[in-house]
Amino acid sequence: MRRRGHEARPGTGQRIISIATMEAKPDRSAWLKGGTARCQVAPPVPTKPWRLVLLGAPGVGKGTQAELLSERLGTCHLSTGDVFRAAKSLNPAERTPALNAALDCMRRGELVPDAMVLNMVRERLGCLKCEGGFLLDGFPRTVAQAEALDGLLQAERLGLDAVLSYELPLERIVARLSGRRTCANCKAVYHVETRPPKMEGVCDHCGGKLYQREDDRPESIRVRMEAYARSTAPLADFYQRKDLLRQVSAEGSPEDICGRTLDVLNPKA
Ligand code: AP5
Repeated sequence: MRRRGHEARPGTGQRIISIATMEAKPDRSAWLKGGTARCQVAPPVPTKPWRLVLLGAPGVGKGTQAELLSERLGTCHLSTGDVFRAAKSLNPAERTPALNAALDCMRRGELVPDAMVLNMVRERLGCLKCEGGFLLDGFPRTVAQAEALDGLLQAERLGLDAVLSYELPLERIVARLSGRRTCANCKAVYHVETRPPKMEGVCDHCGGKLYQREDDRPESIRVRMEAYARSTAPLADFYQRKDLLRQVSAEGSPEDICGRTLDVLNPKA
């Protein structure tokens, strides 16, 4: 699809149409780099700016669904895990001690402390205010983060449309994680058996190199599942009480699940 390039104006969430036209996925620079970074390629502003949170255990397929939903709804995929992984490629001199500690937590499969995550999200407030809406993946992950998100959105007079909770038995999730490959450049997600790239080891979208995440080793997967059960699963109740929770079965192909999600968002009368 041919798209016009846009920029997100940091701190305002507005987009500026740039002169260039190009064939590319939204680059999400404002989210991935933070600070004064601007998006060079963003989707056209959709008729409805959806503001959604994707919940579910590690590996259930949130990132995969976020990519598909982003194409269908024209809304940016904002993953906190992608921001931390992007920070890994910084020069060691550019990393603060707090960031190094966060990356160590991630390697072990533990959650990054709330204060660090919330600082990082506050620095990217422009993305939450973006007129294109957002698909939050991996944030919030604790009740404290969910309460902070509520505060940030209320201050901007914005609200969530829904919280999508993807569900699948644990043994199926572990099989998904162990075959996952991720693009080092555009972060697109593949699976060696169920969603292979056209050319082994190479991203279909940008030609970037595919790699296996450090936290997809069996010992880190176990720690991540425990952290999910302890800290993130209680968010289902939190959002149920606000009448925002929508449960979606994560069985079947990514396209089936995406279709189910769109049905949940746009129920037929
Ligand atoms: P994060 O990056 O958020 O990882 P996660 O929640 O563990 O989720 P994953 O990315 O592992 O899985 P996913 O559900 O997106 O599945 P995917 O689509 O890739 O967080 C990583 C770490 O960062 C955390 O552990 C923590 O340390 C830190 N962190 C991040 N945010 C934080 C926060 N807010 N607070 C504290 N710490 C934070 O799919 C998995 C595989 O399955 C892929 O190979 C895919 O191709 C395949 N697949 C997907 N769908 C299907 C399907 N329908 N059928 C078959 N295969 C499928």
